[in-house]
Amino acid sequence: EWRMDSFVENSIREIREKVGDGKVLCALSGGVDSSVAAVLLSKAIGDQLTCVFVDQGLLRKNEGDEVEAVFGPEGSYDLNFIRVNAQERFYEKLKGVEEPEAKRKIIGEEFIRVFEEEAKKIGAVDFLVQGTIYPDVVESGLGGESAVIKSHHNVGGLPDCVDFKEIIEPLRDLFKDEVRQAGLQLGIPEYLVFRQPFPGPGLGIRIISEVNAEKVRIVQDADAIYREEIANAGLDRDINQYFAALTNMRSVGVMGDERTYDYAVALRAVKTIDFMTAESAELPYEVLNKVMSRIINEVKGVNRVFYDLTSKPPGTIEFE
Ligand code: XMP
Repeated sequence: EWRMDSFVENSIREIREKVGDGKVLCALSGGVDSSVAAVLLSKAIGDQLTCVFVDQGLLRKNEGDEVEAVFGPEGSYDLNFIRVNAQERFYEKLKGVEEPEAKRKIIGEEFIRVFEEEAKKIGAVDFLVQGTIYPDVVESGLGGESAVIKSHHNVGGLPDCVDFKEIIEPLRDLFKDEVRQAGLQLGIPEYLVFRQPFPGPGLGIRIISEVNAEKVRIVQDADAIYREEIANAGLDRDINQYFAALTNMRSVGVMGDERTYDYAVALRAVKTIDFMTAESAELPYEVLNKVMSRIINEVKGVNRVFYDLTSKPPGTIEFE
């Protein structure tokens, strides 16, 4: 812990020296890395920092509002916070697109376009913040395994689209657990600090095939129920990643005396050390049953729930 104490102090000093009275821009996703980087910068240089948060309509339920509550004007930090509600734009671009890599590419490119537009409005920027952490540095050097299998979307394309003098990467020497330590040290809420990983393309790769607003609503609601019940069962810190996905399968069921023809939701929960390999978690049957029954009863458009038993490999953790 002492090490993180001095890390925070030293970084704040270094950032101040480097930035002077310059203007700094940060793409904030609400994930652990970009949140810690943003707070560090905010403590160092206050409102010389502007954070742009893009809600692409593919976030978990209420996530946009949660991020705004922490970092926005009602939140606890001194920074300029810009939330861009770009949901419709993303849905429009994704209309009719079924192929996973095509979807990833569209989401990544549209994100960069939105960010670029905001950067232009802000005007001359001196520094761009990246939440790069040590494993990212290593992985991009070696061409990490999943980078080859799926085109990973994070903020890697940003440096090319914005004019700035220099990049600031305050976390580039830290491992993930050290980033979390620094986050706690900086007073970031625990639910943000201990968040499970969430992919850049968001729910876009948890909805198999075409994405639309209705499917996003279904997967958000199912996922919120799943997360709530996992937390109620006290399992949230034991499982490394868990989420609901929407299969592109509809099947026949019966509800009351009505025939239904609705979607199937898949539940995923994995234990893993490095996310390169993973095993499905052995969830208690009663927890699964409760989640199934709540999803069927509370989420319109779903009449079947599956639990995904597949390890990685051969499966991946996400569905696309
Ligand atoms: P897969 O599905 O490849 O996922 O087994 C491994 C881990 O990586 C996350 N993931 C991503 N993270 N951008 C990210 O920032 C992405 O495009 C992306 N795709 C997958 C996934 O959630 C899991 O933790």
